Amino acid sequence: MEAAARAYVNLALIKYWGKLPGAARLPAVGSLSLTIDALYTETRVRFGAAADSLSIDGVSVAGEALARAQRVLHEVRRLSGRAEGATITSRNFVPAGEGLASSASAFAALAAASAWAAGLDAEGPALARLARLGSGSAARSALGGLAYIPGPGDDAAQPAAAPSTFVSRLRMVIGGVGGGPKDVSSADGMVRTQATSPYFGAWVESHPADLAAALRAAEEGDFTSLGEATERSFWRMHASALAAAPAVVYLRGPSLEAFYALRALRAEGVQGYFTADAGAHPLALCLAEHAPAVAARWAEIPGITHVKIAGPGPAPARL
Ligand code: PMV
Repeated sequence: MEAAARAYVNLALIKYWGKLPGAARLPAVGSLSLTIDALYTETRVRFGAAADSLSIDGVSVAGEALARAQRVLHEVRRLSGRAEGATITSRNFVPAGEGLASSASAFAALAAASAWAAGLDAEGPALARLARLGSGSAARSALGGLAYIPGPGDDAAQPAAAPSTFVSRLRMVIGGVGGGPKDVSSADGMVRTQATSPYFGAWVESHPADLAAALRAAEEGDFTSLGEATERSFWRMHASALAAAPAVVYLRGPSLEAFYALRALRAEGVQGYFTADAGAHPLALCLAEHAPAVAARWAEIPGITHVKIAGPGPAPARL
């Protein structure tokens, strides 16, 4: 009847951007991400109410946010044969709406807590399928570690943990850039890119090669190739969004300064590769031994208010 779960944020190395036509809102491209241990959401779900309700960080919310949560709840009720309403209480240990993938940890935690509260034994790919009803990237947080979602051509394939020989050595340096919540959500940014950017087709066409290169690199323990594919995917996603009309722009001055600083560090032998989600925060994929040098350099950049080093994070856990 009641269960609580903690789920962690994931950051995409090979990005998802754009949806297939149809009500299922499936991603137009595959993706590969690293779940991180530093940012997470905790959610409790209790079945037995007359109607569904949602509270986020102590504030009761309705409208679109509740409707999105109900996409997950309706499927949990269908699978478990329950009919009661659910009381959802959620707490984010991550800034919401700033491009740090809070929707990923939020919907993975909701999927886990609601499935477990309803008595379903959902884990791994089954949990990923529930989580993605709320947000595409949430499927990856349902898996933890390096998580992979195949491209849409790959019908038989399920979201899965990517084989990797070195996930425990990976770190993500996160630069915090002020400026408050972004003005275009990832959902709206995708729609606009898809509808108006002449580069969206090129993004979709070039994507499978980047995903394949990253998966191969992860499996072989080739950090440089994984990093290069990560940075390529980041630029290609943002380039497709920048070419939308009007332009979908997430990067700010400090994001670009962080990119230049990282490129300069690479010339000095520090292995770090740049990425950013639908937001301004610069992110660097690093090997553990190089993360402190990147964090120290980024902390000096005006406009970067704080820097964090995150390690790999697990799949959702029961609380
Ligand atoms: O799943 P959403 O709607 O939060 O979209 C995620 C989009 C990116 O974070 C930019 C890329 C990704 O694969 O996570």
